[in-house]
Parts: sequence; C-alpha cells; structure tokens
Amino acid sequence: MNLTSVNKEKCIRCGFCVNVCPEQVFILGEDGPEEVCPENCLACGHCVAVCPKEAMDNIKTPLANQVSAKKFPKLSPEEAGNFLRSRRSIRSYKETPVSREKLIDLVNIAHFSPSGHNLQGISYSIIDDRKLLDQAVKLVAEEFEKDNLLSEFIKPYREKGIDTILRGAPCLILATADINFLRGRENSIFSLTYLELYAPTLGLGSCWAGVFERIACRDNSPLLTLFNIPKDKKITGAVMVGYPKYTYPRLVDRNPLEFTFVDR
Ligand SMILES: Cc1cc2nc3c(=O)[nH]c(=O)nc-3n(C[C@H](O)[C@H](O)[C@H](O)COP(=O)(O)O)c2cc1C
Repeated sequence: MNLTSVNKEKCIRCGFCVNVCPEQVFILGEDGPEEVCPENCLACGHCVAVCPKEAMDNIKTPLANQVSAKKFPKLSPEEAGNFLRSRRSIRSYKETPVSREKLIDLVNIAHFSPSGHNLQGISYSIIDDRKLLDQAVKLVAEEFEKDNLLSEFIKPYREKGIDTILRGAPCLILATADINFLRGRENSIFSLTYLELYAPTLGLGSCWAGVFERIACRDNSPLLTLFNIPKDKKITGAVMVGYPKYTYPRLVDRNPLEFTFVDR
C-alpha cells in the first residue's frame, strides 16, 4: 500500500511536493508525483501542506488533520518584532490558579515546534499542585546543599523563605523524553521556547527554570520520583508558568548586535 495518494483530477503537476520533500520520497512523473522511497518519509507533512490544489494526501500526515493557513492574517515585521521583544521572564506571579484548559493549550502549541529529523519525542508533565511544587523546591535546595552548589540561590530561601528556584510560580511544566533519546534536550528547548512565546497571548507569563533543571535533569534525580516520571523517561526541560503580577511597558533590550557577513 502506498504512503501517499494523489488526486489526479486536482493535481497540476507543479512538482512542489517533490521539491520540498527532504528525503526524496518522490520523483515527478508524467502524471504527477510518484512515490519511490516511501520508507524515507519522516512525516514532516510538507508534501501535503505545500500542495496548492489539495491533491496530495499522506497516511502519516493526513490532509484532513492539516488546518488551512489561508484564513490567518500575517503579522507585519514590526508586529512580529514587537511580539518577540515583548516576552519577559516572569519572576513574580499572582496566586490566581491557571485553568487546566490553558495549561493544555500551552503544551499543545509547544508540541508543534520543530525537532531534529521530525523525531519529536517530547511529552509533558504539568504540576499545578502548590504542595508538590513546594516539596520540589525543598528537594532542589537540599540537593544543592549536599553538593555545596549555588549557595547564593539557596541562602534567601533558607533565611527568608524566598523561592529563588521556582519563583513562587503556581505551575511548572516539565518536558520529558525517553532515557535513550539523544535529541531530548534540544527538542525540549525548541518546544518550551514555543510555549514561552505563546504564553503571553493567554495572559500568562513564564520563566525558564534553569536552576531547577540542574537537579531535575540529572540521572536518578529525586524529582523523578516526586513527580512520578516513568522509569524509562528523563526530565529534559522545565518552565514556570502563571499570571504575571506586573506588566512591562518596555520591550527587551540586549547587548549590541554583533554580526559579520563571511565572504571569500
Ligand atoms: C536556559 C535558561 C535558563 C534560565 N534559568 C533561569 C532560572 O533558573 N531562574 C530565573 O529566574 N531565570 C532564568 N532564566 C531567565 C533569564 O535569566 C532571562 O532570560 C534573562 O535574564 C533575560 O531576561 P528576559 O527573558 O526577561 O528577556 C533562564 C533563561 C534561560 C534561557
């Protein structure tokens, strides 16, 4: 059975599907695309998505699952730039709980991020239980203390009860991957970056939990047990989420841009 099917009446033999395929699954024959190496297909869905006539279908990425992009207006460069530059790491959160619908919405967008060879392979554990989050912060602090690490982060927590690890966020989203999945970390970074950029559109703020990750991403981390992570999975990324207490009337600024064009 073929992987792809082409509606011959709709197909205009433009060859777009053949050209965009990263794995040479097709050649362009007289009657349109012909599948020659279906075993190479990495299920990226490009052949279906690029077809201007909706003539191509693929069992791995059905046309019926692909939403039309035509109805959505494109952001202007200014709008897109401002959107990207308005994201801030949020470290002060309201106590308002975040609905589970919104949390699912976040990870749903996160899972559309690109991944090496389209292997994807990331799943998410969402923690919105205050007690569990407090226990996690305590465990992380204890682990750092055992190893004599990051005392500057632990001190305000021990002395004043300030949560320097998860910033008092009401939710934590973990990316997890199979223990032996080599692309787990990089795919998680892309995925959680999508999540971070999307969060403000739901009125939410987020912050990468890098300090927390130093303990959470270890093999045999006590957090694996605390969060009930399956034995064959590892934690590959973590982001705090909640409603921001403050809004930022100014866009992000950075060190001066450095770049070169490299010519011969
Ligand atoms: C990989 C990574 C790890 C981070 N870890 C933490 C963290 O543990 N705690 C924290 O408060 N901020 C953390 N941040 C946020 C950075 O401090 C922040 O991105 C930087 O200061 C710039 O601020 P902005 O994101 O608001 O533009 C992390 C960011 C990244 C990309």
